[in-house]
Amino acid sequence: MLVLSTLYSLLSQVLSQPGLHTAVLLTPTGQLVSVASEPSRPKDEIRVLVGLAGEVWQETKGDGVGMVESEMGRIVVLPVDEDDGTGLGSPLMLLALNSTDAVSWEESQKRGRLLAGHLAKSLTKYRDFLALPRAMPTASPTLATLVR
Ligand SMILES: *[C@@H]1O[C@H](CO)[C@@H](O)[C@H](O)[C@H]1NC(C)=O
Repeated sequence: MLVLSTLYSLLSQVLSQPGLHTAVLLTPTGQLVSVASEPSRPKDEIRVLVGLAGEVWQETKGDGVGMVESEMGRIVVLPVDEDDGTGLGSPLMLLALNSTDAVSWEESQKRGRLLAGHLAKSLTKYRDFLALPRAMPTASPTLATLVR
């Protein structure tokens, strides 16, 4: 059985102090599933990160990885999927990592992919359950402004 505390402890393990401080697991439609951050961050900031991650993913998923650098930090978005991010099919979940610019894109991606692979194995059996419904998230104008 997959429990939220397990997800949380997996997310915590991907963090690397002090640069890589926040890891978020969200559904492809932009719903927060679990978050680990060190030090812990205000809910509002997490909500912004989740919205941004969903948007970045929608815009860049063709590459199998979404990346954005802004005043919001360095954000990497990866698919959690058994097919290892070929871009085919829809991912089970998205993993978003937020770090300072002291952490390289390679480092974030490497750590993220390891975790995503691990999560995919645990989540695959829930695919049918998770894949429904497949509605697209409604873009929030506030977030769209933030990315620019
Ligand atoms: C992302 O990280 C940056 C740099 O550490 C931080 O300033 C920003 O508040 C974070 N953004 C979110 C949405 O968590």
